[in-house]
Amino acid sequence: MLAKNYFTRAFLSTLLTLCRVNSLSIPEFPPRIIVYEDKNFLTGHLQPLGHQRSPSGAVKEYTEAVRPEEFWEKHVNLSVPLVLRQGIGKSPALNTWINDDYLRDSYGELDVLIELKEEDRAHSTRRMNISEFLSRYKHEDIYAVSLLPDPMRKEIQVTRVLCGSFLDYIHETNFWMSSGGTRSVIHYDADHNLHCLVSGRKDFIMIERKYAEDLYFFEMKEYSGSSFSGIDPNSVDLVQFPQVAKVPWTYATLSPGDCIYIPAECIHQVRSYKRTISATILFTSGPLLDTPFKPEGCNETLNYTPLSDVEVHWTYQKGDAYIEMGYMNVEVMRHSLLATMKERNEENLTKEAFVEFWGDYEEQPYEYHDDNIKEDPRVTFEKYLDKKHKGFVTKEDILNIPRETLKALARLVDVPHGPQAKTENGAKLDKKLAVHEDL
Ligand SMILES: *[C@@H]1O[C@H](CO)[C@@H](O)[C@H](O)[C@H]1NC(C)=O
Ligand SMILES: *[C@@H]1O[C@H](CO)[C@@H](O)[C@H](O)[C@H]1NC(C)=O
Ligand SMILES: *[C@@H]1O[C@H](CO)[C@@H](O)[C@H](O)[C@H]1NC(C)=O
Ligand SMILES: *[C@@H]1O[C@H](CO)[C@@H](O)[C@H](O)[C@H]1NC(C)=O
Repeated sequence: MLAKNYFTRAFLSTLLTLCRVNSLSIPEFPPRIIVYEDKNFLTGHLQPLGHQRSPSGAVKEYTEAVRPEEFWEKHVNLSVPLVLRQGIGKSPALNTWINDDYLRDSYGELDVLIELKEEDRAHSTRRMNISEFLSRYKHEDIYAVSLLPDPMRKEIQVTRVLCGSFLDYIHETNFWMSSGGTRSVIHYDADHNLHCLVSGRKDFIMIERKYAEDLYFFEMKEYSGSSFSGIDPNSVDLVQFPQVAKVPWTYATLSPGDCIYIPAECIHQVRSYKRTISATILFTSGPLLDTPFKPEGCNETLNYTPLSDVEVHWTYQKGDAYIEMGYMNVEVMRHSLLATMKERNEENLTKEAFVEFWGDYEEQPYEYHDDNIKEDPRVTFEKYLDKKHKGFVTKEDILNIPRETLKALARLVDVPHGPQAKTENGAKLDKKLAVHEDL
């Protein structure tokens, strides 16, 4: 609570004094560090993040196709970022999405969620169609950060490293578009992310998870797996936040066709300078699922594979009332159900075991818990899992729970990490969002 209030005040005061990143001039990156003779003058004080200290180097880069086994062993399993030059280099979108008219003609009626360019994490999200977004984004402070609408997925290539069992655990793909001058907060996310650039340029500052304390991260989202810092990345106050100067960082600049792999919980800060479009893929793997990577099928996907050929848990198409962004990977829930059984050393998952399992989920101190959705977990168990009222489900049953059922369960307990949308016809904002806005 304390952290939240502090954050709100910090955010309101910094928002008013932020200097905009000028979208016309593209600064040097990584920046040239200016060290002053006068020892009292802190290097990089009140300058953008990155000016306080030279980087330790560039993020490891691959220009040739990297083997998926290597991607798993040296990067995903060890939480080490990498850059894949031209990872989606064959995507038709690289040529077509350069043109706003093309986007308007092809996808204008599809809806996207909108944020402010200067990410503040306390501002509400709005929803509008791509046609309206395109007519406004050049002269307003708006940024499309949304689920990649289904029809657009066919124009994006799946990077070759995403194959085999990685493909079983992709839960969300996102569309990011702005006219430039965006900057994120310093943060980390709960899931692995392959962030690929379609148009423009983006600069990334990457920092290991262990430095979260030195970057004064808030702990308000302890259980959600994501968190962020209240430091203004446009103007780092080294008097208030002296530890920042000690934190090593690496850097990457993406050009159209390039991708960066951002491991789950890897701290990053991102900027864009001109019209920029990204397509990102969120996935889960490794320790979260207790399953190592399996390369079966990787050799068959050596040819061009469009993202529309891949099964994604949370999707959006024309007419959907909600843009369900920021939900969990439902395979993690399946895995947790199995793990509960294993922990209790039981052959089947009993109703009692489920009630306990569910209690753990519901106890998580999500900020905007909506009491209206609570129902007796015994009822939930029978309604979703044990339809025949046996009093238990077998391992086999759990392995066969349809994804749609797991999604229905996820909607009951998971507060989206990202924004929800208002319904298509009504002006009524989502309840959680209204609370969010009150902050
Ligand atoms: C993944 O990393 C862990 C250590 O973090 C190691 O024990 C394990 O062998 C690694 N697995 C693979 C498949 O590389
Ligand atoms: C987009 O939304 C605007 C405002 O609601 C509406 O007037 C327009 O017809 C929509 N365009 C398309 C292509 O759906
Ligand atoms: C894929 O092809 C490579 C090289 O031809 C081979 O070494 C590897 O075993 C194959 N992997 C699978 C899973 O078939
Ligand atoms: C688990 O369910 C199976 C299949 O219904 C049943 O044969 C078995 O006896 C159950 N095991 C226990 C320990 O109840």
